[in-house]
Amino acid sequence: MFLKLWRSRSQRLRRTALSVLSGFATLVLAVGLSIGLGAPQAAAAGSLPCDLYATAGTPCVAAHSLVRALYSSYNGSLYQVQRASDSATLNIGLLAAGGYANAPAQDSFCTGTTCIITKIYDQSSRHNDLTVEGAGGAGAADVGAPADALPVTAGGHQVYGLEISAGMGYRDNSTSGVAVNGQAEGMYMVTSGTHVNGSCCFDYGNAETNNQDTGNGHMDAINFGTECWFSPCYGGGPWVQADLENGLFQSDSGYSKNSSNTGTGAMPFVTALLKNNGQDHFALKYGNAQSGSLTTTYSGGEPTTSGYSPMHQEGAIVLGTGGDNSNGSIGSFFEGVMTSGIPTDAADNSVQANIVSVGYGGSTGSTGSLTAGSEISLRATTSCCTTDYIRHQNNAAVVSPITSSSSTLDKSDATWIVRRALAAGAGSSCVSFESRNYPGDFLRHYNYQLYRQPMVGTAQFRSDATFCPQTGQSGTGYSFASYNYPTRFIRHYNYNVYIASNGGSNTWDSATSWTDDVSWVVTAPWAP
Ligand code: AHR
Ligand code: AHR
Repeated sequence: MFLKLWRSRSQRLRRTALSVLSGFATLVLAVGLSIGLGAPQAAAAGSLPCDLYATAGTPCVAAHSLVRALYSSYNGSLYQVQRASDSATLNIGLLAAGGYANAPAQDSFCTGTTCIITKIYDQSSRHNDLTVEGAGGAGAADVGAPADALPVTAGGHQVYGLEISAGMGYRDNSTSGVAVNGQAEGMYMVTSGTHVNGSCCFDYGNAETNNQDTGNGHMDAINFGTECWFSPCYGGGPWVQADLENGLFQSDSGYSKNSSNTGTGAMPFVTALLKNNGQDHFALKYGNAQSGSLTTTYSGGEPTTSGYSPMHQEGAIVLGTGGDNSNGSIGSFFEGVMTSGIPTDAADNSVQANIVSVGYGGSTGSTGSLTAGSEISLRATTSCCTTDYIRHQNNAAVVSPITSSSSTLDKSDATWIVRRALAAGAGSSCVSFESRNYPGDFLRHYNYQLYRQPMVGTAQFRSDATFCPQTGQSGTGYSFASYNYPTRFIRHYNYNVYIASNGGSNTWDSATSWTDDVSWVVTAPWAP
């Protein structure tokens, strides 16, 4: 009731203020842009995001990443994993100071079992480390994310991101140096537009210290997802929004009526940025983390409803849930920082350039083979269909013709990255197939049909997504036996893809052309 009242009041205010504010936003944008172009950061080559923000006078007070160092001098741990077999833990550090995660250490520690991420270290001197979040006002205690759910390439290395499913989240309720009570702060995260939902609230940033909703302005966090809190929203999302508590804001007056924020679409790697002076101004930006610069979707006043101007941040840090541990949301996290003070646009631009230089999702250089890290496409061999490839479309796996003149999207949909088998006991002769353009999504069977789905970490998913290659049943190429249904092989039938046994009881088990339908040629990837 109260929510409805203040929403409609803000709606009226919003209407009258809209033209004035949009003019103001344009001015702020133009000023920000000219500062950015006129005064580039004099940062040393090789400077990483927290070096850049420190040089600009807004040092990091939190720096979290599973992927890389965020200071050029950092050589400590990035995160901690715990394995299921004996509950032992291991800190995962860097291959070199200022470099990339030592993912091979995780791989060998977790061989034959499964690991979850139990801690994400803060690289800043503040030691604002995140641990698995406890129960809150709107959610039971969370669990740790599977450590191998989101394999990606960064800086030419295979590393892991953090893949959040519902019921997962991280938090630190006792921080040092993080903005409180109207202090200024900035923050960004690198996330993905392909692993999102409309549930509350995939956030990274400032939240309450007691896991409860303590009122308007008690949070200041980046939200990323397809939840439209203040309808209408524009475009299909997912949107970079500000979770300022009791609302996901895209603009000042408590509504999402921001026609310049139409969302990122299914962009595999997204930079999401929020800054807030804590008094009377906040800004939202997004960018493609693989190329180009940042776009500002909002730069203007705080929400006009009471409680947001000034802000009342409490200084906890949340990752993957709302302030009250609302944990129905899903999302991906690769790196993120929070700063003391509101960073300049020039510093944001330098940070975005550094993120792009990482080459997130870049090709590994190994193509066309069934070894982990190699990118491949899978071509059908039945005479009907020798130009057809396994691709995903609307979340299902199908076969369809792909040629050199196919669209980039079709080629990406038909490209798979070979990964270590997700099933813990499968050993090195089996593999899993990750989508090229949906990081963290794998080919798995369900009711014997194949789909592209996010890796949730269950033993069922791991088994359903594991396949063991052998010589093609027809004598050509390879056949891929299902790990948990070893007499069934990946097969196309009526242009859908199944695991099928020869002459079994389902229509797709038909013995007619079974040996050809289950035999595939492993080719160079359509989208390397
Ligand atoms: O502001 C949106 C959400 O509302 C917050 O994250 C949560 O604390 C509350 O449920
Ligand atoms: O695809 C066959 C089975 O169907 C899978 O193992 C399971 O996920 C579903 O019940």
